[in-house]
Amino acid sequence: MENLIYEIVTKYFAAENIESVKVFNGRAIITLCNVPEDDAKANGMKAEIAGVEGVKKVNVVYTAEKKVAPLQEGPEKWQLAGVKKIIGVASGKGGVGKSTTAVNLALALANLGLKTALFDADIYGPSIPTMLGYEGVPPISFDGQSFQPFDYINIASMSIGSLIDRSQPLIWRGSKACGALEQLLTETNWGEIDVMVIDMPPGTGDIQLTLSQRLTLDGVIIVSTPQDIALIDAVKGVNMFKRVDVPILGIVENMSYYVCEKCGTRADIFGHAGAQETAKDLGVDFLGEIPLHLSIRQNADNGTPIVMAEPESPHTKAYEAIAAKIKSKLGL
Ligand SMILES: Nc1ncnc2c1ncn2[C@@H]1O[C@H](COP(=O)(O)OP(=O)(O)O)[C@@H](O)[C@H]1O
Ligand SMILES: [Mg+2]
Repeated sequence: MENLIYEIVTKYFAAENIESVKVFNGRAIITLCNVPEDDAKANGMKAEIAGVEGVKKVNVVYTAEKKVAPLQEGPEKWQLAGVKKIIGVASGKGGVGKSTTAVNLALALANLGLKTALFDADIYGPSIPTMLGYEGVPPISFDGQSFQPFDYINIASMSIGSLIDRSQPLIWRGSKACGALEQLLTETNWGEIDVMVIDMPPGTGDIQLTLSQRLTLDGVIIVSTPQDIALIDAVKGVNMFKRVDVPILGIVENMSYYVCEKCGTRADIFGHAGAQETAKDLGVDFLGEIPLHLSIRQNADNGTPIVMAEPESPHTKAYEAIAAKIKSKLGL
C-alpha cells in the first residue's frame, strides 16, 4: 500500500520533495519538504490518496530546510578515455547487496567476453577491495602522473576505499568526496574497456546525482530486496535517475528467497517477487532474482566472489543471465 501511495505522491511532487510515506492503521502520513504549505497540489493529492482502499485518513506533514542539490545545467563531463559504456549499480538503501551484485555482475560480464572494469564509488562503505581481495594504495603509472587499476582475475578495478582509511568513519563534505571520485575516475589508466560497472553509494544524495550528471551513464541497475521498505527506497532511486535522464536498465531482486541446504525447502524470508511487481508498476524491466545463499556471502567476504569461485553453481548462472540481458541492452 505504501508503494501505491508513494506512486500517487510522485505524480504531484518531485522525488526530492518527498521525505517519507508511511501508513499506520489506515492513516497515511506523507512528509514533504521544501514545498509551500496548503499547496493546492497537496489537496488534490490528499483526495486521490483518500480513494485508496484501506486508507481512512490522510495527513500531510511539511518539513523545511532540507538542502536539495541544485540540478546543474549541462555540467562539464568527466572524460574516461578508452571506456565505451558505463553503468551504475544503485540501491535505495544500504545492506541490500548492491556491492555483492556489482562485483558478481562485473565478473559475469567479463565471462561473456567483455573487457570489464569495476569502480567502487561508495564513499560510505567501500567494499570492493575486500570482495575482490586486494589491499593497499593503487599502483602509480610509470610516469608518476596517473593510477594503474588493480587487475583482479579478468577485471580492472579501482576503489575510493583505497584512498580512505576504512576503519575510520567517513565525514566528507559532498564536494570533497566528488573531487576524490573525479580524480580517481579520470586519472586512472583504464585501458580499453567495453563496460565499466560503478558500485554507487546507497540512496539518492549528492554523490549519486553528481555521478549521474558528470559521467555519461549508459544505464543503471537498481538492487532491492523484496521487502516493502527496501522497495520504497528503490522507487525513490528509480525516480531520481529518471529525473536526470539516466536509463534504468532494470531492477534486480537480491536475497529473493532461501533454499535450505539440508532439506531443499524454499523459504521466502523477505517476502517474494516484491521487486518484480514494483518493476512492473514503474514500467522498468525486471532483470532477475538472486537467492539468499551462504556461499554468496562467504565468497564475497573472502575476496572470491561466487561467479569466480563456483562457476558452475546455479547462482553464477543467475548472475550470468542478468549480465547477458545487460550486455544486449547496451548493444555490446
Ligand atoms: N544473495 C546473497 N546471499 C547471501 N548473502 C548476501 C547476498 N547478497 C549480499 N549478501 C551479504 O549481505 C551483506 C551486505 O551485502 P553488500 O553487497 O555489502 O550490500 P550493500 O553494498 O548494498 O551495502 C554482505 O555480508 C553480503 O555478503
Ligand atoms: Mg556496498
